Amino acid sequence: MGMLKSSFAFLVLAFAFFLCFIMSTGDGFYDYFQFVQQWPPTTCRIRKKCSKPRPLQNFTIHGLWPSNYSNPTMPSKCLGSQFKKENLSPKLLLKLKRSWPNVEGGNDTRFWEGGWKKHGTCSEQTLTQMQYFQRSHEMWNSFNITEILKNASIVPSATTKWKYSDIATPIKTATKRTPLLRCKRDPATNTELLHEVVFCYGYNAIKQIDCNRSYPTAGCNNQVDILFP
Ligand SMILES: *[C@@H]1O[C@H](CO)[C@@H](O)[C@H](O)[C@H]1NC(C)=O
Ligand SMILES: *[C@@H]1O[C@H](CO)[C@@H](O)[C@H](O)[C@H]1NC(C)=O
Ligand SMILES: *[C@@H]1O[C@H](CO)[C@@H](O)[C@H](O)[C@H]1NC(C)=O
Ligand SMILES: *[C@@H]1O[C@H](CO)[C@@H](O)[C@H](O)[C@H]1NC(C)=O
Ligand SMILES: *[C@@H]1O[C@H](CO)[C@@H](O)[C@H](O)[C@H]1NC(C)=O
Ligand SMILES: *[C@@H]1O[C@H](CO)[C@@H](O)[C@H](O)[C@H]1NC(C)=O
Repeated sequence: MGMLKSSFAFLVLAFAFFLCFIMSTGDGFYDYFQFVQQWPPTTCRIRKKCSKPRPLQNFTIHGLWPSNYSNPTMPSKCLGSQFKKENLSPKLLLKLKRSWPNVEGGNDTRFWEGGWKKHGTCSEQTLTQMQYFQRSHEMWNSFNITEILKNASIVPSATTKWKYSDIATPIKTATKRTPLLRCKRDPATNTELLHEVVFCYGYNAIKQIDCNRSYPTAGCNNQVDILFP
């Protein structure tokens, strides 16, 4: 009887550990994708460690993030396969060098590896490594944000400031879906800099859906005009 009790206790304990383990990795708990593109000049101004003399003047991929409705910064760092460059075709690697460069430093592979570890592993049940990077490149290719803004006369400037809707509206018109803008505050000048443009996609990363601004972590400060440096 004592034997039975202790083995039962052991089972309960083992199950509890198993649950904790599953929950800490957040495996599989995502609802949709955020496809995040960054404006390299802002990234370089904030992080102050870009190795290239002049940052690229094109929006490039920051990442494809499986996200949870209740907490868009989750899940993260799930159990999954290890990143291997060899899993991606040589043709795709060439494409990613343009669409997904490491804007802060020289090593693109390290940037892709980091993105896979932190985000890609959490949607591996939907997208293999090859599919994850392939889809990301296709998303980048489907709309050229730099060009959409240029056509709306929104071009980089050290002085001109924009309202959130000035920037979001032409993107929404072109994509027919609501994007999300994220800003970074430049402490040196106390200005709000346009940093990221987010597209949202459904669970299968195929259909683009509207993003929502209601999340506390999302968006730029509504009261402040935005610089597109
Ligand atoms: C969102 O994440 C939490 C843990 O952070 C998880 O408990 C919950 O199941 C997730 N929601 C969905 C819809 O998967
Ligand atoms: C990046 O932007 C420059 C202009 O600023 C353009 O000449 C170049 O072709 C762009 N490169 C890519 C890969 O889009
Ligand atoms: C770039 O990063 C990858 C992945 O972390 C690493 O294997 C490789 O050695 C790095 N290359 C250089 C030139 O540092
Ligand atoms: C996107 O548009 C910009 C501005 O017109 C251009 O410099 C860049 O080469 C375009 N990128 C691609 C991949 O076509
Ligand atoms: C931008 O304008 C050019 C010239 O009118 C046009 O050819 C191009 O398709 C436009 N691009 C976008 C993304 O609207
Ligand atoms: C945003 O809200 C709309 C309308 O409620 C919904 O259809 C859509 O799925 C939401 N998107 C995200 C990313 O939460």
